[in-house]
Amino acid sequence: MKGFAGKVAVVTGAGSGIGQALAIELARSGAKLAISDVDTEGLAQTEEQLKAIGASVKTDRLDVTEREAFLAYADAVNEHFGKVNQIYNNAGIAYTGDVEVSQFKDIERVMDVDYWGVVNGTKAFLPYLIASGDGHVVNVSSVFGLFSVPGQAAYNAAKFAVRGFTEALREEMALAGRPVRVTTVYPGGIKTAIARNATAAEGLDVAKMASRFDTRVAHTSPQRAARIILKAVHKKKARVLVGPDAKVVDVVARLGGSGYQRLFAHVASRLIPGQR
Ligand SMILES: NC(=O)c1ccc[n+]([C@@H]2O[C@H](COP(=O)([O-])OP(=O)(O)OC[C@H]3O[C@@H](n4cnc5c(N)ncnc54)[C@H](O)[C@@H]3O)[C@@H](O)[C@H]2O)c1
Repeated sequence: MKGFAGKVAVVTGAGSGIGQALAIELARSGAKLAISDVDTEGLAQTEEQLKAIGASVKTDRLDVTEREAFLAYADAVNEHFGKVNQIYNNAGIAYTGDVEVSQFKDIERVMDVDYWGVVNGTKAFLPYLIASGDGHVVNVSSVFGLFSVPGQAAYNAAKFAVRGFTEALREEMALAGRPVRVTTVYPGGIKTAIARNATAAEGLDVAKMASRFDTRVAHTSPQRAARIILKAVHKKKARVLVGPDAKVVDVVARLGGSGYQRLFAHVASRLIPGQR
C-alpha cells in the first residue's frame, strides 16, 4: 500500500480482528506502529508478526476507556517515535439486548468503550497529529452507525455518536486549515472475534448469536477490510464503507428514509445475532 512509508501509526484494539489486520498491513506498507489492547496475549501475537515484517513497534497494554492513561500514552508514543501521523481508533465491543431488558451499566459500558474510547484517542493524539504537519484521524464506526436495528440500541447509539463526532471533526480541521485529514469507517460484517467477545442481556445465548454472526453476517476478511480502509485513508476519503453488504444497506437506508426501519427490523430478526 502506497503512502504509509515512514509514517507513525497508532492502532487501538490491535490484538485481534480489524485492528490486528490494520497493524500488519501498515507495517507491510513501511509504517512504524504503536499498538495497544487490553488483550495482552493477542497483542503479543500482533507484535510478533510486526517484528517478523521488520517494522518498528511500540507495544502497550491500554484500556481506551482510561482517559488519563490514554493522555500519558499519547505523550509516550510521541516521545518514542518523535512524531505521530495517524491514529486508528478501532478498539470496540459488541452487546446485544433490547432496551427494555438492558441494564444502564450495559448501555454505559458500550458507550464507554465504543464512543468515549474514540473521543479519548482523538483528543489525546490531536495535538501531535497537528504538530506532525501530516496527520490523519481514522475512527471506526459501523454500518450500525448508519441505521438502527432491534437489539442493538446501545451499539447503535455509540456508533452513531462516533459518526457525528468524527464528521464534525473533519469539518473543523478543514475550516481551521489544520493539516489533519479525518476518515470515518463503516464496516459491514467482518470475520473477527467481535461476536464471540460480545456480551448480551440475560437469557440470550451468546454462543448461538456468535455462530449466527460467523455463518450468516460476517463475509469480509479482516485483511480485506484493512486494505479497503487503508486505500480510503490514502485517498483522504471522508468515509469508507467496508464490504459489499455495507454498500447495499447504506443505499437502502438512505433511499428508504425512515421506512428502512420496518424492513431492517424484519431482516435483522433473521440475520442479527440474538434476534427473535
Ligand atoms: N467485525 C465486524 O463485523 C464489525 C462491524 C462493524 C464495526 N466493527 C468495529 O470494528 C472494530 C474492531 O472490531 P473487530 O471486529 O476487529 O473485533 P475484535 O473483537 O476482533 O477486536 C476488537 C479488539 O478491541 C479490544 N478491546 C475491547 N475493549 C477494549 C478496551 N476497553 N480498550 C482497548 N482495547 C479493547 C479487544 O480486546 C479486541 O482485541 C470495533 O470498533 C467494532 O465495533 C466491527
